[in-house]
Amino acid sequence: MIISSAADYREAARRRLPRFLFDYIDGGAGAERTLAANMADLQSVTLRQRVMQGVAGVDLSTQWLGVAADLPVLIAPIGMSGMFARRGEVQGARAAAKKGVPFILSTLSVCPLEEVVAASARPIWLQLYMLKDRGFMENMLARARAAGIEHLVFTVDLPALGLRYRDAHSGMAGPFAPQRRLSQALAKPAWAYDVGLMGRPHALGNVAAYLGGAMKQKNYLRDIAANVDPTLDWSTLDWVRARWPGRIILKGVLDEADARDAVRCGVEAIIVSNHGGRQLDGAPSVARMLPRIADAVGDDLLLLADSGARSGLDVLRLLALGAKGVALGRAYAYALAAAGQGGVENMLDIFAAELRVGMMLCGVGEAKGVGRGILIPKIDGSAP
Ligand SMILES: Cc1cc2nc3c(=O)[nH]c(=O)nc-3n(C[C@H](O)[C@H](O)[C@H](O)COP(=O)(O)O)c2cc1C
Repeated sequence: MIISSAADYREAARRRLPRFLFDYIDGGAGAERTLAANMADLQSVTLRQRVMQGVAGVDLSTQWLGVAADLPVLIAPIGMSGMFARRGEVQGARAAAKKGVPFILSTLSVCPLEEVVAASARPIWLQLYMLKDRGFMENMLARARAAGIEHLVFTVDLPALGLRYRDAHSGMAGPFAPQRRLSQALAKPAWAYDVGLMGRPHALGNVAAYLGGAMKQKNYLRDIAANVDPTLDWSTLDWVRARWPGRIILKGVLDEADARDAVRCGVEAIIVSNHGGRQLDGAPSVARMLPRIADAVGDDLLLLADSGARSGLDVLRLLALGAKGVALGRAYAYALAAAGQGGVENMLDIFAAELRVGMMLCGVGEAKGVGRGILIPKIDGSAP
């Protein structure tokens, strides 16, 4: 099939993956209203077309937290990516390194962090889910430090796992899940051979030893739901800091009050996110909340964002709304599932081309310089 956009990669992933995996990637919590709002609100942000601005040399590069990036983009942490493609996290990290953007490895990756670090030509970032067993978490942080990781993305919007009904319907969870997954896998022989057979082991590499093996890929969602720590509060950040001398980025802030608390607690970067609509269905879109958070704390810490970006133009919109960089979740997962490392590299090229052309047509030459000036107010005159 012809691939020219992230939407094409979504369709290619749908064709290649067993249904339970496609729905796990594609779905959101509840009635998926927040998932839909992320995309609808973002796409309704109107860009201001300018002419005669002399924008021959567009510069997409940027820098955050001591890291240079060729694009204002990061690869978001995606649990279980090693089930989308053979040793998927290794392929994803290699693609990110080749295109000069940070790769954030999920706590719940199939490939252990040591395998991904060894395979990647560029330092990776590690995402942290706080699980109940603090001794185990301490050990995982020590492993990450020993592997040379310096950036920790602490996800704080998952004190409980969002309720995702698609997963029950598809066989990712729910009754007779293993039998249903097996029959779906047999219906996708290319995936079954490449990933099901050749991509083993499928254990969750970072947490396989958790509680003597209670965290298993087989009962993935049930085990996460049972083991995430619901007691998280701002003192948990001190606990992490005492064990992590490197940079810490909080992921999952969606409200100005929480952003102000983050500043008060000395946080230097946040990812404004609603977890791609996978947690609180009914929460507002990131496009809606980002400008308010930028107004509240944009000068006090680094603002990154995710949730809803499906094109380079969406990246441009989120930059204009106040983000300094945008993490790609599903766009990355679809490309990885469809075509592995090459697919992710091509997806990043597509985003770069869309961003470059969008910037030229808006008359801006530097990604670092994008601001609200490129937005058009809504028809009723309200802010973009
Ligand atoms: C299949 C899938 C798995 C995810 N796993 C994780 C994870 O392990 N840790 C995490 O912090 N966020 C996780 N997320 C959320 C993403 O990091 C990111 O916040 C979200 O996908 C952004 O929205 P988008 O998909 O619309 O780009 C996951 C998202 C998806 C789609």
